This record gives sequence, C-alpha cells and structure tokens, in this order.
Amino acid sequence: MSDVLELDSVSVVRGKKTLLDKVDWQVNEGERWVILGPNGAGKTTLLQIAAARLHPSSGKAGILDETLGRTDVFELRPRIGLSSAALATQIPEHENVLNVVVTAAYGVTGRWREGYERDDERRAFRLLNDWGMGPLLNRTFATLSEGERKRVQIARALMTDPELLLLDEPGAGLDLGGREELVHKLGEPGQG
Ligand SMILES: Nc1ncnc2c1ncn2[C@@H]1O[C@H](COP(=O)(O)OP(=O)(O)O)[C@@H](O)[C@H]1O
Ligand SMILES: [Mg+2]
Repeated sequence: MSDVLELDSVSVVRGKKTLLDKVDWQVNEGERWVILGPNGAGKTTLLQIAAARLHPSSGKAGILDETLGRTDVFELRPRIGLSSAALATQIPEHENVLNVVVTAAYGVTGRWREGYERDDERRAFRLLNDWGMGPLLNRTFATLSEGERKRVQIARALMTDPELLLLDEPGAGLDLGGREELVHKLGEPGQG
C-alpha cells in the first residue's frame, strides 16, 4: 500500500450528479502533485476526500496507511494540513494573524494545552516568519490582502507538522508575482 494516498475507483455521487467517477490516484512519500481542471471539474471534492473530510460514495480511499470508513477520522485529520477557501471563511475576522496560525494546534487536541502554549506560539511565529508574515503578526485577518491571507493559511496548515499537505487553489487571487513567489516557496526543501 502507498504511504500517502491510495484512491481506488473512488466515486462521489450527489443526487443524479457524479462529481468523481472511479478515480484512481496513488501518491507516494516525497511526491508533489498539482491537480489541474476547469471550474466544477471536481478538484475540491477530490481534495475533500484526500483530507478525510468526505467519504466516497463508492470505492476505497487509503490515506496515510489508514482506510476511510475503517479509521477514526478525528485521529487522521490532524496528520493532514489543509488550506482551502471554505476553511478561510470560518476564520473570525477580528482574529489576529498569530492566533489564526496558533489555534490550528488547539483544533487538533480540542483542548487548551497550557503547557505547550509557548512552544506553539514560537512555532507559529517561526512559520509566519518563514512565509514573510512576521511583521504582520498582530494585524487582524480581515485587514490582510489576498496574498497575505494565503500565506497565513499555509502557515496555519503547516502548524501541526502534517504528513500530508493539501492546498486547494493556493494561487487564486494572487497576482503574477505572488504566484511566482508561492511556487518558488513551495519548491524549497522542507516545504510541502
Ligand atoms: N453537494 C453537492 N450536490 C450537488 N453537486 C455538488 C455538490 N457539491 C459540489 N457539487 C458540484 O460538483 C462539481 C464539482 O465541484 P468541485 O469539486 O467544487 O469542483 P472544482 O473544485 O474543480 O471547481 C460542481 O459542478 C459542483 O457544483
Ligand atoms: Mg474547487
């Protein structure tokens, strides 16, 4: 079995509509994939499966050596970093940038881990610095530009040191320079 993703004939059907039609997809450790397709092609649906947020209507989805439907998704999800427009809309507008990133750690455990607070803050701070957001730590998420928001979301997705990182449309809303920079950054060793 593949280390990271092993989708075997995965279909997602909603009413009469087939969103994914018998998709096979194998991702091995260390690989980086880009999924291209027009609006409505099913990219987000596919990533929702890979992120253990959605179950296939039929077929088998293996994720990080677990099988969806036969594993506790609440243990699996923290091992997967996800950045998506849908998640971004859930971020409270008044939340400051550091908190947006640091709360990813608490989301995982579902409780306030007092002893780890400082370590988590340090890690969030380092990730934000890595993504060039150090000077904006105290700004609220609502006041950020699109490109700045994307970078904060990626830092957030990396907060739990995930084994699998999924970025849904990380370049959307970025200008040409912003996209170039993002691709360059994601290509650096140790990222993604
Ligand atoms: N719950 C649903 N019921 C019916 N159709 C849906 C549902 N969710 C998504 N779709 C449709 O599935 C198709 C694929 O959506 P999506 O995965 O978001 O595509 P992409 O991310 O490639 O733009 C779209 O046509 C969308 O309208
Ligand atoms: Mg989409």
